[in-house]
Amino acid sequence: MNIIVTGCSRGVGLEICRVLLEQGNTVYGIARSCPEDFKVLQAEYEGKLFFKSVDLADSENVRQNVFKDYCGNKVKIDGFVNNAAVAYDDIVTNLNLNRLKAMYEVNVFTPMMMTKNVIRNMILHHTKGAIIHISSISVHTGYKGLAMYASSKGAVEAFSKDTAREWGPMGIRSNVVVPGFMATAMSSTLTEEQRSKIYARTSLKAATSIRSVAETVVFLLSEKAESITGQNIHVDNGTI
Ligand SMILES: NC(=O)c1ccc[n+]([C@@H]2O[C@H](COP(=O)([O-])OP(=O)(O)OC[C@H]3O[C@@H](n4cnc5c(N)ncnc54)[C@H](OP(=O)(O)O)[C@@H]3O)[C@@H](O)[C@H]2O)c1
Repeated sequence: MNIIVTGCSRGVGLEICRVLLEQGNTVYGIARSCPEDFKVLQAEYEGKLFFKSVDLADSENVRQNVFKDYCGNKVKIDGFVNNAAVAYDDIVTNLNLNRLKAMYEVNVFTPMMMTKNVIRNMILHHTKGAIIHISSISVHTGYKGLAMYASSKGAVEAFSKDTAREWGPMGIRSNVVVPGFMATAMSSTLTEEQRSKIYARTSLKAATSIRSVAETVVFLLSEKAESITGQNIHVDNGTI
């Protein structure tokens, strides 16, 4: 399968690329930077892992940057993983509109424009493809300081549900993976005390495994998940 993965340069996105490659897929990665860890994976899976530096804050030019200059109509896209995101953390009374809009560009508007173009490619090639959005447990449980970030993920969850309904008749599936807190760059600013509090809210009392999230994404992309669509799949160590 040919799969587009955004936010491939580190964290969850890099792990999703690794699992996809282990299972014989071809991956079209997108991020701004291409760090050493990604290059090592590229060397290991020569010809199967591509990279293009795209700033996903530029939703207006996604068609040109991704679907004309990178994954053109000749590439039959089987799956799209909307993983890249940024977190704007603050309490609601400090809300800054410009920062909110900047986050929505990356977390909501660009993923929607990507989905539009991915579905057009799937229609062109008669592909029964799959779309996976990465959300966050903060949508479902609530955390102080994450209202703005969680709202962007909630928008994506609604978008996925309705995409599934709209394009199901063409065999195109759309699902959401909802991870709990993971130890990545995104959560690196949290103190030990904050982490302990977050982990105390999980059944397994630990950080969610990045590998477990990536394995779930790849399962949902595969034919094994052919009857799963319009769902939110929680991979969150049982967060309450
Ligand atoms: N970490 C957690 O605890 C947690 C919990 C629940 C959900 N999530 C979700 O899981 C997903 C992965 O998060 P993560 O923890 O792996 O985050 P991360 O380590 O911060 O990685 C984010 C990825 O997104 C890319 N990215 C960010 N802004 C971009 C832009 N403007 N243009 C292109 N690429 C951009 C980054 O690449 P460049 O910087 O190279 O561009 C990077 O590859 C996100 O959707 C996040 O919201 C994370």
